[in-house]
Amino acid sequence: MSEDGLYEALRGYWHPVAYASELNGGGPLAVTLLDEPLVLARIDGEVSAFRDICVHRGTALSLGSVSEEGLRCGYHGWTYNGEGRCTKIPARPDLKIPSRARLISYRAAEHLGLIWVCLSGDPVYPLPENPYFDDESIRLIEVEPYDWRCALPRRIENYVDFGHFAWVHDGVLGDSAHPEVPDHSIGRHRNELRFEHPHMAEPPDSGKNKSLEIDGAVEVKLDYRLFMPNTILLDQYIESVDQRYLLFFSVCPTGRRTCRCFTVMGRDYAFDEATDAEMLDFNELVIGQDLAFVESQRPEELPVDLSAELQIAGVDRVAIEYRRWLREIARGADSARQAALQ
Ligand code: FES
Ligand SMILES: [Fe+2]
Repeated sequence: MSEDGLYEALRGYWHPVAYASELNGGGPLAVTLLDEPLVLARIDGEVSAFRDICVHRGTALSLGSVSEEGLRCGYHGWTYNGEGRCTKIPARPDLKIPSRARLISYRAAEHLGLIWVCLSGDPVYPLPENPYFDDESIRLIEVEPYDWRCALPRRIENYVDFGHFAWVHDGVLGDSAHPEVPDHSIGRHRNELRFEHPHMAEPPDSGKNKSLEIDGAVEVKLDYRLFMPNTILLDQYIESVDQRYLLFFSVCPTGRRTCRCFTVMGRDYAFDEATDAEMLDFNELVIGQDLAFVESQRPEELPVDLSAELQIAGVDRVAIEYRRWLREIARGADSARQAALQ
């Protein structure tokens, strides 16, 4: 059981690699997943993901173009269909195309406004859910993807770390005069960890809360669904005004110690563009406060051994359960590797 095992095991899970809107022009779009350079293309309306290497001379297909014929390499014009099979070699149009002229292709899906890819076999878990995605009473806005120099699990753990609100986000999400973390329940539900923060008092004048026009602290209840291993749906209910604020947050492990973060913010109030801008500014403020702390963590990779860092019962409950589950995922990869070695 090791961080190596976890990193390898992640190949068997769905990961977000781009917003679907980034492929509106059809692509090609270069992305990276688990150190694998990929090219995405929308061919005949379907999203395909290939290793970003042309089988002819190894150039990046993401330098090419997408047309009705398929994905065309920019170097000599070889063209590939949605399954990655070469259908055209322009320098010899009548040549029988060798069967080896085929790209390495990965499972890809378009779901909840994102493109998801799984690098190995059947994905262990289904794609995450967001029951509010098609809900017309909710306004959704995408945050520009951003890259952090930290491992995926460190990023996810930071997002659900209740103890840091009072310190890192003092006056924005929490209050350093009230740093206690309330008791909270957590449980597994299929491929999710579900937990809640029963009560938080936020400042009324933050970019997120301003348009609610509430006097005094904004009392919120937070329900979390953590879809293992990389996605969080945070459902925040503001009881006094019966309003809802949502964050759908999903992290792509671009490498062992790097990640790309995708966020779709949602709310059922103040649908104007000025509030959109305030929400985006607010999100930028919050992640800007987290960045230095998370990138400073050593080791960069989250230890799958629970005893490697200190855990405080009750306070670090979510992290403990998340790490336990990651350890099971890592163990799965290690046992598969051991079986392969026998
Ligand atoms: S390198 Fe792609 S067609 Fe030659
Ligand atoms: Fe934070």
